[in-house]
Amino acid sequence: MTKVKIGLIGAGSISESHLDAYSKNDQTAEIYAICDLNGERAQAKADKYGATRVYTDYHELLADSEVEAVSICTWNNTHAEIAIAALRAGKHVLVEKPLCRTVEEALQVEQAVKESGKILQVGFVRRYDRNAEVVRQFIDSGELGEIYYAKASCLRRLGNPGGWFSDIERSGGGPVIDLGVHVIDICWYMMGRPKVVSVSANTYNKLGNRANVKNLSFYKAADYDASKNTVEDLANALIRFENGASLMVDVSFTLHAKQDELSVKLYGDKGGVELEPNIQLVLEKHDTILNVTPQTDSTSFNFPSAFQNEIRMFLHSVQSGDTPRSPVQDGVEVMKMLCGIYESAAKGQEIRY
Ligand SMILES: NC(=O)c1ccc[n+]([C@@H]2O[C@H](COP(=O)([O-])OP(=O)(O)OC[C@H]3O[C@@H](n4cnc5c(N)ncnc54)[C@H](O)[C@@H]3O)[C@@H](O)[C@H]2O)c1
Repeated sequence: MTKVKIGLIGAGSISESHLDAYSKNDQTAEIYAICDLNGERAQAKADKYGATRVYTDYHELLADSEVEAVSICTWNNTHAEIAIAALRAGKHVLVEKPLCRTVEEALQVEQAVKESGKILQVGFVRRYDRNAEVVRQFIDSGELGEIYYAKASCLRRLGNPGGWFSDIERSGGGPVIDLGVHVIDICWYMMGRPKVVSVSANTYNKLGNRANVKNLSFYKAADYDASKNTVEDLANALIRFENGASLMVDVSFTLHAKQDELSVKLYGDKGGVELEPNIQLVLEKHDTILNVTPQTDSTSFNFPSAFQNEIRMFLHSVQSGDTPRSPVQDGVEVMKMLCGIYESAAKGQEIRY
């Protein structure tokens, strides 16, 4: 098979993970073109990864007939626009999470996928982690029974990435849309993607971005700027599903917490499982509770390996036409939950669907 020629749009922080993973899948992919509003940044990545074309306008990259598939790694406010343009230009798309900023945008992207017949994979990278695959096998085989409750936290005590992340116009929101998207998606995916019936949530803007704090480092946007912060710093939510299952989640960019916290826990009527902070199954056998630790290379989420798998499977979908593990429809459903959280918090009441 010929290699898939890749165009990457948005050469900031996360692009490195895409480019590294494509370069490790060099039997199936060729990193062909890089685009960024910042030409020097695009050129630097092109030099590092051997791309022969460099653009500062994504329309020009999309007009390049050699480009077969694109990775969209830009600010959230451009995901829908670029994804739709790419699909209409006949390109397959891997779009970073979140799919976009609003349900309306998400539905437009879904429509463009249908009309184009092209592959669109949403960058729900946690689905591609080895431990997630192991847990999915246990759930699919019925060993945990019916999953009726999930609980996830992604709490940063100091971790507002600044720049576009903290500008609501470009990001669409704060930790809900940036971090909540990951943990909500992985819980919902493990629960079997039940239909959402209601969301009740709170958001808080109490601490600001705490750019004054010294001696602790954290993830920052390529163009870090602490001067504008129009996003929430904490949110919590209770999401109810049609099958009676529920999901409780809390996320923060900053919080007076002793330490960062990441947990993803699912409870079924035959057993439970923790994906984070460490993979752990909880079963019952012969009237005895067993805490079982699957033996895998990494006890928690392995970012580089999950990324490589995500890219490998995207390339597989492009070449085979198989539906991605994280298709556009799932991106739409997750946007409904994320936007439901913001709507419920703004109205101070439960949102019903
Ligand atoms: N999967 C993950 O775990 C993960 C982690 C971090 C970020 N992300 C997502 O990746 C995306 C980018 O995040 P980041 O941390 O790399 O941000 P970043 O600020 O470091 O990089 C974004 C880049 O996009 C460029 N850009 C913006 N609009 C553009 C346009 N119209 N055309 C060309 N270039 C454009 C900017 O100049 C910048 O270089 C976001 O959607 C974010 O949510 C995902």
